[in-house]
Amino acid sequence: MSMLFRTKPLEAIMGEAAETGDHTLHRTLSATSLIALGIGCIIGTGIFVLTGPAAARYAGPAVVYSFVLAAIGCVFAGLCYAEFSAMIPIAGSAYTYGYATLGEIFAWIIGWDLVLEYAFGAATVCSGWSGYVLSLGQDFGLRLPPELAGTPGSVFVLYNGNWEFLGRVAKKLAQLGIDPATLPQRHGVFNLIAFIGILLTTSILVIGIKESANFNSVIVAVKLTVLAVFLAVGGYTILHHPEMPRVNWHPFLPPNTGKFGEFGWSGVLRGAGVIFFAYIGFDAVSTAAQEAKKPKRDMPIGILGSLLICTVIYILVALVLTALVNYRYLNVPDSLAVGIDATGVKWGSLLVKIGALGGLTSTMMVLLLGQSRVFFSMSKDGLLPKVFSKIHHKFRTPYLSSITVGLVVAVFASTIPLDKLGEMTSIGTLLAFIIVCAGILVLRHRKPALPRPFRAPFSPVTPILGIIISLAMMLGLPGETWLRLVIWLLIGLVIYYFYGRHHSKLSNPMRYNISDR
Ligand code: ALA
Repeated sequence: MSMLFRTKPLEAIMGEAAETGDHTLHRTLSATSLIALGIGCIIGTGIFVLTGPAAARYAGPAVVYSFVLAAIGCVFAGLCYAEFSAMIPIAGSAYTYGYATLGEIFAWIIGWDLVLEYAFGAATVCSGWSGYVLSLGQDFGLRLPPELAGTPGSVFVLYNGNWEFLGRVAKKLAQLGIDPATLPQRHGVFNLIAFIGILLTTSILVIGIKESANFNSVIVAVKLTVLAVFLAVGGYTILHHPEMPRVNWHPFLPPNTGKFGEFGWSGVLRGAGVIFFAYIGFDAVSTAAQEAKKPKRDMPIGILGSLLICTVIYILVALVLTALVNYRYLNVPDSLAVGIDATGVKWGSLLVKIGALGGLTSTMMVLLLGQSRVFFSMSKDGLLPKVFSKIHHKFRTPYLSSITVGLVVAVFASTIPLDKLGEMTSIGTLLAFIIVCAGILVLRHRKPALPRPFRAPFSPVTPILGIIISLAMMLGLPGETWLRLVIWLLIGLVIYYFYGRHHSKLSNPMRYNISDR
């Protein structure tokens, strides 16, 4: 029983972090690459897809406050991640922090839970990505069979000569008085576009961390440019038409309809729960700690820098969007395209679609990177089979881990509906945040003298607030998502019982020459 709660000696972890040679990961990432990695992962579905619906359904223009609230929650967790990742700069992120502080069983639970954040997260984003590929393809006259563009059961209708997701055009059809049943319909069978998307991204990850980081930096530049153009064109229009914000921001905080979560402050809260997805990814920077040149200095810069930059961008985009278009018309998956259309710029919507496609591609890539690195660490500890920590002699990447993760995520993305994937991602991420914040409390208490290159300020207030806010956002998620989380964790425990516990290197102390105590 005590075995379950044994912690991994910090000295052993530090030893692994300091290893060099062909069998180790390649230390090539600078502070700038790490910030780019963070932005690459953070800016994606959240801002491009969820902003409009969150404003239209929950918060109105006050979705800006939802962005601020969700950011505050993430900052508390982000500070804790920054402290850990500078102190324990190893690829396993929250999993390794848990192993060092709370014990093996907790480490396993976090590692297994991170699959929800990274693998399910990548699948969620890829599902949205495939929708943009379909839509852009159709803009250029490329017809793809809808059966291969949606997960089983998703409904497409033929509208204006294009196959569209029914959910995407349902409102428009209702406004036009068209009954969708009168339009030709097809059902998704297997989302081949998403499947191929994941496999392509995985191949870049296999080729090398430097190549992946360079590819990511190019895409980050594209998506930041697109958002800058959106802000510039939108801002210019607003300055020249001050009546737009006057009308559309009035009221800025629409009154509550009488139901919890529908406008008013409760709507802002619910909006924050939805918008939280937009911030997921800053913690993925910590999974690249073993590939950073100077992790002790650069990890906090990468994590907190990317979080800060994205928060500012998100708030500005939400302000401009809700000023350009009345929130009531924003319940569409391509709300930024609708926003730029309102400026009268003809090429705007195509530009936004390209930005979204790029944005989602890098998010997918960094999430997949995170997953393979967490499995890498778990495998090095013996909790997962050795294949997951095998490093390619030339590429210096955990290629088998990346390929296995890629294949599984490709199947998830092509068969599980987007909303289910998204909710699992959020609940899994929030649980990881809670455990990381708790880990900071435990380690400050148990090893107060340990050198900490970065300290989360105002501890214990910061980690405690991180726990409370994350838990509050978890409680806002549906009961069935909680049930799925419990089932997922139980499956994990069964695997641990039959495999991890017997193969754990910790159960064989001879493998470590140093003792923790
Ligand atoms: N934050 C990432 C996104 O919005 C996961 O897609």
